[in-house]
Amino acid sequence: MEVIGVKDFNEMSKRAAQFVYEDLVNRRIKVMGMATGGTPIGFYKQLVRLYKKGDFSFKGIQTVNLDEYVGLSPENPNSYHQYMYQHLFQHIDIQRDQTHLPNGAAEDLERECVRYEQLIEELGGIDLQLLGIGENGHIGFNEPGTSFHSNTHVVNLTTATREANARYFNDRREVPKQAITMGIDTIMKSKKILLLASGKEKAQAIYRLLYDKVDESCPATILQRHPNITIIADNEALSLV
Ligand code: GLP
Repeated sequence: MEVIGVKDFNEMSKRAAQFVYEDLVNRRIKVMGMATGGTPIGFYKQLVRLYKKGDFSFKGIQTVNLDEYVGLSPENPNSYHQYMYQHLFQHIDIQRDQTHLPNGAAEDLERECVRYEQLIEELGGIDLQLLGIGENGHIGFNEPGTSFHSNTHVVNLTTATREANARYFNDRREVPKQAITMGIDTIMKSKKILLLASGKEKAQAIYRLLYDKVDESCPATILQRHPNITIIADNEALSLV
């Protein structure tokens, strides 16, 4: 595991974009796993900036997102579908059929989970998975207690996670109670992982990721066992380390 410490959110975003840029230019990524939330917003901005220099293209690349809220259609402004369009897809040469997210509005959620897991397999697995981290150590939407053997599944979001994400909604009552997320095993099968963390709210989770016993009570601890993971975190997120 490599840990790269940087000054702040801006430095984290730039460093992460540079990291991914090198893999894209050298054509090491066919399938890229995307993350949402506040943390990767600066990264996407920097990646778009590098893309505009013209050294690489998204032609032939497929993207798969970690998760999506249940009950929000892809057109809903709070959906991760819209987030990805707004922050990345509308700015790059990528077509609709190259981008994949779980469908949180699917009628049969169980079937949707199976479809999504199979899709990732059929694409040949994830070459590089981008990750953020929840304050309680969740990755994707895998809350504490999730089995390390889990595949894509439906989760009930904890009150803490709903509260942490309420800032993106007009009203906290609008925050969905469930989500579809890649499982821990789905994430761990990625060939390479890049995890980003910024801010003192993440300090405890980063400490636990690095030093706690690997245990399902803190999902991120499993990352200690990943053979190729890089963490880019700012001073505040590393303040307990
Ligand atoms: C959400 C997402 C995660 C994300 C986490 C942290 O729950 N499902 O993928 O890593 O929140 O979000 P933020 O970056 O906004 O702190």
